[in-house]
Amino acid sequence: METSSLVKRDQKCIWHPFTQAQTAASPIPIVAGNGVYLYAEDGRSYLDAISSWWVNLHGHANPYITKKISEQAAQLEHVLFAGYTHLQAITLAERLLALSPQGLTRVFYSDNGSTAVETAIKMALQVKGSGKTLLSFQGGYHGDTFGAMSASGKNSYNHPFWPYLFQIYSISPPLRGHEEQSWAEFERALKTENIAAFIFEPLLQGAGGMLPHSKIYLKRMIKTCHDRGIITIADEVMTGFGRTGPLFACNTIEETPDILCLSKGITGGFLPLGATLAKEYLYEAFLSNELSRAFLHGHSYTANPLACAAANASLDLLEENSSDRDRIQHSHLRFQNHYAFHPKLKRCDVVGTILILEYSTQESSYFDPLSPKLTSFFQKEGILVRPLGNVLYILPPYCITNDELQKIYETIEITLTNWP
Ligand SMILES: Cc1ncc(COP(=O)(O)O)c(C=O)c1O
Repeated sequence: METSSLVKRDQKCIWHPFTQAQTAASPIPIVAGNGVYLYAEDGRSYLDAISSWWVNLHGHANPYITKKISEQAAQLEHVLFAGYTHLQAITLAERLLALSPQGLTRVFYSDNGSTAVETAIKMALQVKGSGKTLLSFQGGYHGDTFGAMSASGKNSYNHPFWPYLFQIYSISPPLRGHEEQSWAEFERALKTENIAAFIFEPLLQGAGGMLPHSKIYLKRMIKTCHDRGIITIADEVMTGFGRTGPLFACNTIEETPDILCLSKGITGGFLPLGATLAKEYLYEAFLSNELSRAFLHGHSYTANPLACAAANASLDLLEENSSDRDRIQHSHLRFQNHYAFHPKLKRCDVVGTILILEYSTQESSYFDPLSPKLTSFFQKEGILVRPLGNVLYILPPYCITNDELQKIYETIEITLTNWP
């Protein structure tokens, strides 16, 4: 097949993320999006089964969000956020605080998931002073900046940077069947380590392999941290905005974390934005007559009005319709009923709108050769997936129809029944 001119131009000047350029297939030039579909230059369409890295909620090129961004662009595209403010950021903060677990009172904006986490870590460490460490779950993923990488612990994503990461203490998460072990490690950590903050992805570890864990044990851990004055940081960059069912995973935990990090779905997948929500006592800890004691952190595009307008529009749509999330979950559960104990699967989990299939393979790592095999098979069937090693997950925009879900399930079934 002849290489398209866009691909040729791309290959001369672009460096793609998370890609081994020497061996990767050529990128597919996408020229348009509509609903759950992405349209390629060659006329093919791809059903976006992973919401383009988990950001898209209401479908591509959603007309309502498009209109709101366009109106905002004609009014005010950007203003620095130190010493100035604007309606979209204030409205969004008020809405996020009203919808998130009770007790969070302040919103600090940044511009992606890693910076939302970085902000949280820096807030916690500045409040707690020097010489203290972070507690986190093994297998967590919090982003690619240095603080976020450190919090994630040493893993296959950040291997070249291990010597530069700061020390953290990590324990096994309370996965099914390992809750007591996790709790014992947690208690030991609290006894032996000088911990400033506990950071976790609530209910589901995403990039680490789509691993669900116990809500009850997580709640106990958060509560215990609060009793001991340890700051808790919930990284809801992936789980936020309905992915696990409720708007935020922490809405179901009944113990509000001190800090909550949001990004990805916040703008419905239109523009980059991060938000770090905090309790009032943390905000107050920075108040002083000295500028040097303020939180001296920020990004040029902090609270960008276009991104905030997109986020407000996305919240309008989320508030209008939560039934799609239930519908997707029920659909996944029906699939799970059939395939929970399939011999080719180690597990088949459903967490809210996310269907997770771990194939039984030898390698079981991010580098499992099954991943590119699944990716290209689904691509040929017109479906965009990006498995994490041997873990295939379906995390669709909420506007996906039942027929479109069915098409995905049928494609999975082929891999389970027809593949060797
Ligand atoms: C839980 C979690 N935190 C943080 C991040 C980093 O977000 P970003 O890629 O926007 O920097 C991710 C990205 O996958 C994530 O899943």
